Amino acid sequence: MTRQPIFDAAHYESLNTSREAVASALLAQLKEPLQLRTAIDVGCGLGYFAALLKSLGFEVSAVDGRQQNVEEASRRNPDIEFSCCDAQSSELPKKGKFDLVFCFGLLYHLENPFLTIRYLRQMTKNLLLVEGVIYPGADPIMGLVDEGLTEDQGLNHVAFYPTESCLVKMLYRSGFSHVYRFHPLADHPEYRSTSRSRQVRTMLSASPTPLSTPLLQQLPEAKSPETPWDAYSGVSNRGLRGKIRRILK
Ligand SMILES: C[S@@+](CC[C@H](N)C(=O)[O-])C[C@H]1O[C@@H](n2cnc3c(N)ncnc32)[C@H](O)[C@@H]1O
Repeated sequence: MTRQPIFDAAHYESLNTSREAVASALLAQLKEPLQLRTAIDVGCGLGYFAALLKSLGFEVSAVDGRQQNVEEASRRNPDIEFSCCDAQSSELPKKGKFDLVFCFGLLYHLENPFLTIRYLRQMTKNLLLVEGVIYPGADPIMGLVDEGLTEDQGLNHVAFYPTESCLVKMLYRSGFSHVYRFHPLADHPEYRSTSRSRQVRTMLSASPTPLSTPLLQQLPEAKSPETPWDAYSGVSNRGLRGKIRRILK
């Protein structure tokens, strides 16, 4: 018996529905003012969002780093052009420039996310939409994470997960002058922190021009800690300093 693709599991269904709702609402506001006609879905899996973009009237192409996903995506969406491409390879920007670059669920599966973000900048004419898992924490840093072995994970199953502020900083430094967080984020537990768990995912938008919509909240570029090597300041000692402050209080 062949296994059901992981992309058809219940977890994806609820995640997809909630992400689709906010992405569609945003594109409904921006598509005409920004004259968005062409789109590429990078890290497209089995083509769920490529199909959404097509249904919204975009001329769509899509890439994924796994041939098996490309084949299944093409079978499910024969009217969309899918191709196999590693998003960390210089082949990616050769796909061309697009009004909209759509990149959900990919950046945290990469060994070199900054390189890919620079490629995405080269490919973006007007608007980049990015979604994914973020490493917990406020500083612009990444954590190296071992991943599962399924076909929705990184190609080598080990990846640098950026914090949200790290993603924002990489977007600015790759040349986007305006970076925003979706407002609201998708209505799904993974976009909220609770007393038991920190926020797992975020949704960002980046553009070479200012975007005016209440569905986006502009974010500043985070400063790197100036002296993370100092024993009394910086990343690793924040928790300790907080504890000491609480004890002294
Ligand atoms: C978590 S899935 C996301 C699928 C879809 N975009 C979504 O948001 O539901 C990650 C996808 O990225 C692909 N992927 C992983 N590493 C990649 C790489 N280096 N280049 C291109 N695609 C990659 C995987 O094969 C998988 O289809």
